[in-house]
Amino acid sequence: MSIEERKLSPEEKLVRHLSPLELDSEYKRLKSLISYHNALYHSGAFPELSDADFDALKLRLEEVNFYLLKQVPLFVEPLEVGSAPAPNAKKIKHKIPMLSLDNAFDRDDVTDFIQRAQRFLGLAEDESIKFVVEPKIDGLSFSALYEKGKYIQGKTRGDGIIGENVTENLMALQAFPLQLSGAFPDRLEVRGEVFMRHENFAELNRLREVAQKPLFANPRNAAVGSLRQLDPTVTATRNLSYFVYAVGDISADSPAWDLDSDILESLVRFGFAVNQYRLCKTVEEIINYYNLLKEERASLGYDIDGVVYKVNRLDWQRRLGEVNKKPRWAIAHKFPAEKVHTELLGIDIQVGRTGSLTPVARLRPVNICGVVVSNATLHNEDEIARKEVGVGDTVVVQRAGDVIPQIVEVDKSKRPQGWEPFIFPHLCPVCGSHAVREEGEVARRCTGGLICSAQAVERLKHFVSRGALDIEGLGEKQIEAFWQGGLIATPADIFALPAKADDIAKREGWG
Ligand code: IVH
Repeated sequence: MSIEERKLSPEEKLVRHLSPLELDSEYKRLKSLISYHNALYHSGAFPELSDADFDALKLRLEEVNFYLLKQVPLFVEPLEVGSAPAPNAKKIKHKIPMLSLDNAFDRDDVTDFIQRAQRFLGLAEDESIKFVVEPKIDGLSFSALYEKGKYIQGKTRGDGIIGENVTENLMALQAFPLQLSGAFPDRLEVRGEVFMRHENFAELNRLREVAQKPLFANPRNAAVGSLRQLDPTVTATRNLSYFVYAVGDISADSPAWDLDSDILESLVRFGFAVNQYRLCKTVEEIINYYNLLKEERASLGYDIDGVVYKVNRLDWQRRLGEVNKKPRWAIAHKFPAEKVHTELLGIDIQVGRTGSLTPVARLRPVNICGVVVSNATLHNEDEIARKEVGVGDTVVVQRAGDVIPQIVEVDKSKRPQGWEPFIFPHLCPVCGSHAVREEGEVARRCTGGLICSAQAVERLKHFVSRGALDIEGLGEKQIEAFWQGGLIATPADIFALPAKADDIAKREGWG
């Protein structure tokens, strides 16, 4: 071992990002390093490390020790009798089902919800209900179980009845407590949402782009993909965040909670991250806070897709109960999909692997919910005719649930002079062959087959893709470049590439 290896390097992984197994070997490594340097010091020999470097080793050992002590042996609960056998034996049943929420879309829905609860509880006209109002996080829900203050098990919501075991994965969440503080009950199950902050999402996709891996479409997908990893050390590199907002299974020694907000305050004292919330009494107060959050939405740094209203009194929650796996005491007031106006600069026709022509709208770039949008799908020929779009139109674009942006409608009042409807081409824009529509098909297809370079390239891309041969290091970009350079024309040419290695290496950027 070199002297360099006998001290800490700046690239050393953060201790809280180490898995239990890594913690164990890191403990042993640091112990032996420290005793080596100690022995060296006491032998009177010349020290290899500065005092600061030696202290850094000891500090890291302390930190590792701290996390090791917080760990408890991981256990996997046996599958419940009668539940479907799980392929990876990673499924666990929730002791108390994890409910979902009913949705409200406007003020009337919210008024209805409040009046229904009032009627159900038999309250007088002037007796009002206080609500806990908090942002609805757009992530995935999880449950975490603690016994005697120690974290022992984590699961995803799954279908609400059976979730997936993500015990080790949850340990990687930022500020996730492995040991509770304060006067915690003997057994405590908390429930909340895992999500990815915008900055971490952008950084993750930047790294994936460099590594030529498929990008995540939005922070929610990235959070789902990062948490549900069979290898928890992958989760640990993903910088996930969480908030807890409820408790599930708890032992009888829990604090005497009367209100939902009491629970939230206790959760803070136990050491959990709890989001901001507000107590509201009237529809006015509720809608005001809803509107405020809608304004703040873009600057929160993470995605929210609405606001949750929960009856604050727990005895009332119990009386209201639930219907169809949804509580009568809570509702999610969703935000409308954000819509913006922009100009349709052009319509590009893309030719797919099977020759289908897909129209894509080229837009004057606009910002929707923090994402710059410059393309939107127009689906097919009929869709263009139905919406009566033409180049130069002012169009309304929406990004619903952060999916691919869509053109909702055309603002016909803003049509420029000399406007013409878009005529869908009957010839392939790439090879000039006839593009025909078979009876009953929505897509118009190029009839050029492999003489159409677009189809040929798309087929080659498909050939090497994940779902097909999955040839490592040969992605869409390389296929495109080899095609342009005349190195490949058919799938068979791919296998002749090794023979052309010298030629390829001479090309700029391919050495
Ligand atoms: S309270 C009975 N509060 O939204 C369930 N849920 O669409 C009580 N969610 O499954 C849930 N943010 O996972 C609550 N601040 C929040 C939430 C929240 C996100 C999730 C929750 C639920 C889903 C329903």
